Amino acid sequence: MKVTNVREPTEEETEKMPKWSAELIENVQFIYELALAELELEAFGVDFTVTNSLRGFVLRNPPDVDTLVRRLAYFKTIGHRTTDYYRLTRYNRTRSVNQYLTHWIYPYKGKFHPQMIRALLNILKLEANETVLDPFIGSGTTAVEAQLLGINCIGIDVSPLCILQSKVKTESIYVIDEIERLREEAIASFKLSNRVHTLVVEEPVAKGYNEFLNSIDDDRVRDFYLMAKLVAISDRARRGRDIVQSFIKNLEQMISSVDDYERAARELNLQLGNVDIRQGDARRLPLKDESIQGVMTSPPYSIALDYVANDAHAFEAMGYDLDKMRDEFIGVRGRGETRIKLYNEDMTKSFHEMHRVLEKGRCCAIVIGNATYQQHKIKTIEFTIEQCEKLGFTLINNINKIIYGLYNVMQTDNTLIFRKDR
Ligand SMILES: C[S@@+](CC[C@H](N)C(=O)[O-])C[C@H]1O[C@@H](n2cnc3c(N)ncnc32)[C@H](O)[C@@H]1O
Repeated sequence: MKVTNVREPTEEETEKMPKWSAELIENVQFIYELALAELELEAFGVDFTVTNSLRGFVLRNPPDVDTLVRRLAYFKTIGHRTTDYYRLTRYNRTRSVNQYLTHWIYPYKGKFHPQMIRALLNILKLEANETVLDPFIGSGTTAVEAQLLGINCIGIDVSPLCILQSKVKTESIYVIDEIERLREEAIASFKLSNRVHTLVVEEPVAKGYNEFLNSIDDDRVRDFYLMAKLVAISDRARRGRDIVQSFIKNLEQMISSVDDYERAARELNLQLGNVDIRQGDARRLPLKDESIQGVMTSPPYSIALDYVANDAHAFEAMGYDLDKMRDEFIGVRGRGETRIKLYNEDMTKSFHEMHRVLEKGRCCAIVIGNATYQQHKIKTIEFTIEQCEKLGFTLINNINKIIYGLYNVMQTDNTLIFRKDR
């Protein structure tokens, strides 16, 4: 229907409208981030102009300031108010600006940038109490960011290590008192298992660490302490650190981060979303047709990274057989041409599943890059667009992220935003 009785305001009328300024957070540096910041504002129906500094925006029409303060990812201030996101990033126990709250727990390769995920959840127009699906949840970035925004999240991954990380990052806040109560017992039993005896033993410790884990009734508390052990093992494997020292240091940092999360949620009065993390296969999602309001994911980048080999030490510590696990992982089966063929078949099935479970008219964001395998460039981005369009998705945004790393090595990946039109 054409609306005829609406006209653009005159310049004089516009001048009289309340103007709001919005300032980008200092860590926003790249063109793709500016593009996402603009898309965020558009998603909330804000009309804006960018000022000469390129870091300031003038908002018109007039904006719903409360919503912008609560939700935006790339902005530090709206008018004179500081955004929730900026305040959240202050609860950080690491030196990395984006590893705030529980995001840092476990050094997982291929993590999403949390700020970008928050922006994309806004761009996908997900409201509190709606549900986002990440069928390749990895280290749980989508789950934490959705939870902070009050959006429910279903996270699936084939890797038990990813399931553990995602659960620990989002569930520990509900059992922080019990976690703190067991801190000394955990340290004592870890020392015993690793044959370190303190000179002064206040209480005799009879349990080794595995026995200690088995004695914990609450799954969420047990997961937390299993994760603490795996963080220490990873530190030893990657940096050659003394395992007991590393365990104690990381455990303290993990507990402080969960405390921070609990405090941040209270201080900012956040209504946290529900998180449901399940081990499963993206090619066969255990979900009903059209039951999800948004998909936010990053699948394996073709065969760029061998997720099984990469986390081998953790899988072994968890008691898994690496060879048996491989069969379920996308992108690591077969060799040469067969590997690429299998990857394409598996991803086609996964795209089909994302499309099936998403409500019509809603959006799906896929972060993906092209990989090089045996000197051949594999066009995963083009393949993804082609397959998704065949299924009934329309590509509405294609945001290219190019980053030059050390020695000018270019890293590029794209964020593809599709809408399910049929
Ligand atoms: C690029 S990573 C995801 C990283 C994630 N976005 C994050 O922030 O940590 C891809 C993930 O796909 C998972 N994966 C591989 N094959 C899978 C399958 N068949 N079903 C579900 N997940 C799978 C891997 O375990 C890995 O965690």
